[in-house]
Amino acid sequence: MMLEVDGLTKYFDTPSGRVHSVDGVSFTVSKGETLGLVGESGCGKSTTARTIIRLYDPDGGRIIFGGHDITHATQRKLLPFRRRMQMIFQDPYASLNPRMTAGEIIREPMIIHSIPKDEHTDRVSHLLKLVGLNSEQAGRYPHEFSGGQRQRIGIARALAAEPEMLICDEPISALDVSIQAQIVNMLEDLQESLGLTYLFIAHDLSMVRHISTRVAVMYLGNIVELAGSDELYTRPLHPYTVSLLSSVPVPDPTAQRHIIPLKGEIPSAINPPSGCKFHTRCPKAKPECSQLRPELSDKGSGHFCSCPFV
Ligand SMILES: Nc1ncnc2c1ncn2[C@@H]1O[C@H](COP(=O)(O)OP(=O)(O)OP(=O)(O)O)[C@@H](O)[C@H]1O
Ligand code: SF4
Ligand SMILES: [Mg+2]
Repeated sequence: MMLEVDGLTKYFDTPSGRVHSVDGVSFTVSKGETLGLVGESGCGKSTTARTIIRLYDPDGGRIIFGGHDITHATQRKLLPFRRRMQMIFQDPYASLNPRMTAGEIIREPMIIHSIPKDEHTDRVSHLLKLVGLNSEQAGRYPHEFSGGQRQRIGIARALAAEPEMLICDEPISALDVSIQAQIVNMLEDLQESLGLTYLFIAHDLSMVRHISTRVAVMYLGNIVELAGSDELYTRPLHPYTVSLLSSVPVPDPTAQRHIIPLKGEIPSAINPPSGCKFHTRCPKAKPECSQLRPELSDKGSGHFCSCPFV
């Protein structure tokens, strides 16, 4: 197993109260697979990612990477794991230092991880080619590249220290639709050629279907459903997933569709609804839903769902 996350919690104390951003999240990611993590804005996807790579200290649960418990590892002990697990960010404009050249940006992790200096230039050229750029572009600054090219530089940087796992936090959301598929295809090719493991975060279920081996659906800090990609799309169980999928565009416009709209806005993570947190918006809610304690349970062949009524 590459990554095991067990009961992970992370909250933030703010002037308006405690935000329960990640509220007991458990999943595993096997070597070489892609786990898709989807959910509406604010459901806790980025906080989950940032806690796993220990940009935040977890408030509960465990993070096991490559068999090592890194939940409370010190910064010094984390360094070798940082090399093995890298993150790609949503905004290729904000995540690259505008005062560094592409080459310097890609070289920086090599310095941090003590890769011999005489290898750096060759490695930068190789990485630029790997992400579809050329070595002459190493001397250019981020503003001289397009959005898609900047994301390619971000990916080259993430690959610079030869990681085993990439956590991709909405890596294509900020890009033009025409560019999105190119970046996804490139990430798939890189996964295959380098044997990488991915946690791939997206807003939208349609974005992760193709790339993911399995998909986890998150709502207000919890995973409500987790299943193999095809299984989840063809046989969604949780009423939240069913609603999300009913609004995903289908290729055949004449196909019979039954859109199940979600009522209202996503509730605040400061005062989340009691019981099943989805009960305020659930088309199938029963009176007892505000009292029960939903837990992910296996509904058969690795299809996990937290609603006890499906
Ligand atoms: N540093 C922070 N301080 C306080 N609250 C935070 C912090 N980071 C995140 N939150 C809150 O935690 C919740 C989860 O946020 P998070 O960014 O993880 O969501 P997300 O699923 O990544 O959303 P998006 O799809 O918009 O990126 C939100 O309510 C957010 O306001
Ligand atoms: S537990 Fe109740 S509110 Fe929650 S998803 Fe199931 S039916 Fe809906
Ligand atoms: Mg996010």
